[in-house]
Amino acid sequence: MKTRITELFGIRHPIIQGGMHYVGFAELAAAVSNAGGLGLITGLTQKTPELLAKEIARCHEMTDKPFGVNLTFLPTFSAPPYPEYIAAIAEGGIRVVETAGRSPEAHMPALKAAGIKVIHKCTSVRHALKAEAIGCDAVSVDGFECGGHPGEDDLPNMILLPRAAEELRIPFVASGGMADGRSLVAALALGADGMNMGTRFIATQEAPVHDNVKQAIVKAGELDTRLVMRPLRNTERVLNNAGVERILEIEREKGAALQISDVYDQVAGVYPRVMVEGEMDAGAWSCGMVAGLIRDVPTVKQLIDRIMDQAHGLITARLAGMLAAQPA
Ligand SMILES: Cc1cc2nc3c(=O)[nH]c(=O)nc-3n(C[C@H](O)[C@H](O)[C@H](O)COP(=O)(O)O)c2cc1C
Repeated sequence: MKTRITELFGIRHPIIQGGMHYVGFAELAAAVSNAGGLGLITGLTQKTPELLAKEIARCHEMTDKPFGVNLTFLPTFSAPPYPEYIAAIAEGGIRVVETAGRSPEAHMPALKAAGIKVIHKCTSVRHALKAEAIGCDAVSVDGFECGGHPGEDDLPNMILLPRAAEELRIPFVASGGMADGRSLVAALALGADGMNMGTRFIATQEAPVHDNVKQAIVKAGELDTRLVMRPLRNTERVLNNAGVERILEIEREKGAALQISDVYDQVAGVYPRVMVEGEMDAGAWSCGMVAGLIRDVPTVKQLIDRIMDQAHGLITARLAGMLAAQPA
């Protein structure tokens, strides 16, 4: 399949693996790139720029295909040294960066000087237009369904994607709720040039996380996610568990007076406990509603091949067949 996204990034299939804290290690990024998609190492999971440089080098050993790095600009308690991270990315020969969270504007000159293509992930048309205006090469448009931070507008992809298509000139991928060939064909029909998946890629053989996490996603239905930290305007979609119930209880008790310190224990330091130790009730970890569509743990290649086969079948048989069915 050839789209503006496959052309832009030099990849075979228009499928991107979004940055994921404590999931986006070299193993997963390489597996996605080897299967013809675009894999991404999650930059800030590496605690220092030096460690990121090592992770990039490790990934180069596992694939000769293009892969990228996610750089997330979220409100953190102590700002990471972004220029040093960007230097490690550039020196590691990376040519694609997925930015997310706040606008990457301040870092665009450094990224562009290194010949890096920037795909900014955002949750609204106005932020996508801003990304286009500051020179981003593409955007990843993340709907309300998504795992992680859906923003505060609550626009599902059925509206958000066609709105993005109406306004944007640069190519974009659909993100949030994407799982299979149906998602890809729908995303293309709504105006996107590909799709970005997070949660679906966690439930794969190569995702370097505890098996409990993969099984929790397989077991979860579409009703099993919750939104936390909404009163802080830092909304996150997470899989429900005992720690999440506790956060929601604290949020109800505190109301508008909620402070980040009130829920700090349930949101800080949770990822290693969940992803590495498999402690499923440790607290809040991102997961999309798409868990309701995930029923197995295939290899990344099986997953991507299946998506492309299904998409091909939908376009050439189901959709084309509907047209062909008209009497002459
Ligand atoms: C466990 C997990 C961790 C994530 N961590 C990050 C992150 O660190 N930075 C980021 O930009 N997005 C992060 N995301 C969001 C994904 O990159 C992607 O945008 C999102 O998962 C898409 O929605 P989906 O899960 O429905 O596919 C994370 C998502 C999950 C599920």
